[in-house]
Order: sequence, then structure tokens, then C-alpha cells
Amino acid sequence: MTDQGPTAAGDDLPGKPTSASRTTLSHIMTAADTNLLGTVHGGVIMKLVDDAAGAVAGRHSGGPAVTASMDEMAFLSPVRVGDLVHVHAQCNWTGRTSMEIGVRVMAERWNESTPATQVGSAYLVFAAVDADGMPRSVPPVIPDSERNARRFQEAQIRRTHRLARRRAIRELREQRPDE
Ligand SMILES: CC(C)(COP(=O)(O)OP(=O)(O)OC[C@H]1O[C@@H](n2cnc3c(N)ncnc32)[C@H](O)[C@@H]1OP(=O)(O)O)[C@@H](O)C(=O)NCCC(=O)NCCS
Repeated sequence: MTDQGPTAAGDDLPGKPTSASRTTLSHIMTAADTNLLGTVHGGVIMKLVDDAAGAVAGRHSGGPAVTASMDEMAFLSPVRVGDLVHVHAQCNWTGRTSMEIGVRVMAERWNESTPATQVGSAYLVFAAVDADGMPRSVPPVIPDSERNARRFQEAQIRRTHRLARRRAIRELREQRPDE
């Protein structure tokens, strides 16, 4: 069961297709990006993921948006110095004031013509905010392909689980007020 469907979004704002805000951010990894093992620091990738997702959230919502959460950040294989990293981001789902942005991280050697391989993925929730930092309504995203319709449904499942987990943990803490 999910907590809300597409019609719950947006306060009558006109919808926007997924493709309208899809964004790719590319960056060549240098020695400045490495960890103590000599591969690229996970935090460098997470910054790019947050930047790309933030651009999508800003474009989709038509104004400022802040990161509310980042989950399921997966690092599938190490990224190396000399890798050209592409961070592909798109709006998977919209609620009333929040958006789930899905991100896929690809890497290829900067000077070779071998195909890029996937090295990571993540889902971020952004909240659109007004000038006072208060949540504001976002346009509903209109999935523009079968794949994006499937991503929308999957995002709703994640949303339901996020809310249920937060509620369950809050209730548990309320039962133990002395800690
Ligand atoms: C995100 C923020 C605006 C939410 O404000 P709030 O007063 O809790 O407002 P709400 O409870 O109405 O939440 C707004 C929306 O964000 C969603 N949201 C809030 N916290 C969330 C979380 N931790 N995970 C997922 N979604 C979240 C809510 O479900 C709601 O979505 P909906 O309107 O589509 O249903 C506020 O917590 C904030 O400003 N956080 C700091 C953001 C920031 O600075 N990010 C950069 C980190 S350096």
C-alpha cells in the first residue's frame, strides 16, 4: 500500500514531464578526489550526486529546493583517478512539496572510447522551499515513458516505507522518554 497517488501532488500546478528536468553532471576525477586507498572518495561522488539531484529539483519545482534525505546510496565499483564520471538524475516522483530524485552514476576512462559502466546509484528526497525556507507546492511529475511510470510506482513504495520507518521509530522513542 502507498500513502498517496499522483493526484495528491501539486495544488493544481500544471504537471511537468520527467524529461523537462532530467540533468547530467560530468566530472573528471583527479588526485585531489582520492581517499587513503588511492581510489575516489565516496564523499566526492555523494557531492556530485547531491549537486545533480539539486539541479533537477530546482528545475522541476521552478525555484529553490533543499535536500531532505538521501537513501540507498550504492557504490557498485571503485572509481579511479582519470575516470570521467557522469551523474544522471531525474525526478521520479512528486508529493505535495517533496520530490524523489533518482540518480545513476556512470564512469568511463577519460581518454578511451570504451563504454561507461554503472558505478553507483541513489535516491534523494528534496523539499521545495520558499524565500523563508518553508515547504512550497511542486508541480506533479508526469512520467513520460513506461520505464518512468515504473520508477514512479517504485518511488511511491520507497516513500511509504520511509514514512512508516520514521513513524515506528518516533513511536518507540516516545515509549522510552527517559533515555
Ligand atoms: C526538508 C525541510 C524543508 C522539511 O521541513 P518540515 O518542516 O519538516 O516540513 P514537512 O514536514 O511539511 O516536509 C515537507 C516535505 O518533505 C518531506 N520530508 C521531510 N523530511 C523528510 C525526510 N527526512 N525524508 C523524506 N521526506 C521528507 C515531507 O514528507 C514533505 O513531503 P510532502 O509535502 O510531499 O508530503 C526541513 O526539514 C529543512 O529545511 N531541512 C534542512 C534541509 C537542508 O538544509 N538540506 C541541506 C543539508 S546541508
